[in-house]
Amino acid sequence: MKVNTMKRSMIKTLATGIMAVFIASPVANAAGGGVHLEPADIDVHDKMSLLRGAKYFANYCQGCHSLKFSRYNRVAADTGVSDEQIKAIIFTRDEDDKPTKTGALMTSAIPAKDAEKWFGSAPPDLSLVGRSRGADWIYNYLKGFHSDDSRPFGVNNTIFDSVGMPNVLATLEGTKDPVFRYDIMHHGHADESFTSEEAAKKVLEEKRTFDVVKLGLMGEDIVEHYKTKKEADDFVASKTVYRALLNKEEVASFPTKAEADGYVKENPVDGGKYKVMPKSAYSVVESHKISKVVDHLELVKPGKQSPAEFDRTVHDITNYLAYVSEPAQLHRTMYGIFTLLFLLVFFIFAYMLKKEYWKDIH
Ligand code: HEC
Repeated sequence: MKVNTMKRSMIKTLATGIMAVFIASPVANAAGGGVHLEPADIDVHDKMSLLRGAKYFANYCQGCHSLKFSRYNRVAADTGVSDEQIKAIIFTRDEDDKPTKTGALMTSAIPAKDAEKWFGSAPPDLSLVGRSRGADWIYNYLKGFHSDDSRPFGVNNTIFDSVGMPNVLATLEGTKDPVFRYDIMHHGHADESFTSEEAAKKVLEEKRTFDVVKLGLMGEDIVEHYKTKKEADDFVASKTVYRALLNKEEVASFPTKAEADGYVKENPVDGGKYKVMPKSAYSVVESHKISKVVDHLELVKPGKQSPAEFDRTVHDITNYLAYVSEPAQLHRTMYGIFTLLFLLVFFIFAYMLKKEYWKDIH
């Protein structure tokens, strides 16, 4: 009986654990490392949007990125245009400078080796990026470029730090500058946020303590708080011992370095090697820290498109990449609707048949 309940509770625990993993994982994936993503709100059935996206992709992206799991005529068929029309929209040329065949795979012009030299990393094939990164990520990535003088191309990205890709849509979008925010971090959480670094520093001075921590069995224990780093360092120094090591073995220990050095000098050994090493179980950590983050981006030089137009452009490119990563999704929902319709009709006949079978019994 007892064994039985134990077994049952074990199974229960296991089942809860497995369920927790399944329930938690999509949420964990969607969160994308804690960065807030604006929803892309795409509609892969919007064929005009897909065609606009295809055109932008051919003009602005395909010089570097291939979509090598897709063919031009597949895009034509799925968006309802003829092979001739798709050529006019996403027209490219092959190595011999001849127009690409509509049945060809959508490769890029750039040799991967050169690209790696130029950008630090080769532009990846984007056939599946709609699935690996997701539409929201692509949308926020393409809108996340901002000026940053410390980077080789003068740009960085809010959701892809130190990105290797230049801001290829800058002529359309214009230039965006980052507006920074200064968070006072305490145990991994932002306590307070400031728009000016000075204000944040002032509050930091008030709040911050220098904590002496000791590595214990259960992690780090805070043993002392000090207002200045010097006081904390002095405490650690007072607890530090200086060990005289002979051939890496400890032979004596002293409260000061001078005493340890003196001991080594007075006890010479032939062929052996002395070393004096400090040892402390304590270290100093700051209780609060300032973290500088990009709060939002500000358009400082307009491009050819207004912010609303550019938003649609990015929306269209994202839509196109989401479609390319899974072309079957255009038809999949239709199969589902057909199946449900069939079941509905089938139900009527099944019901009539049931009535027929049971009519003499009732
Ligand atoms: C001049 C070459 C170049 C052009 C043009 C270009 N990219 Fe990129 N792209 C790169 C490079 C290089 C990387 C890799 C960045 C890195 O790893 O730091 C990249 C990375 C990406 C990624 C991230 C892939 C991943 O999963 O890590 C996406 C998405 C992307 N590009 C989309 C686009 C789109 C959309 C366009 C057209 C609007 C475009 N790129 C145009 C060079 C380019």
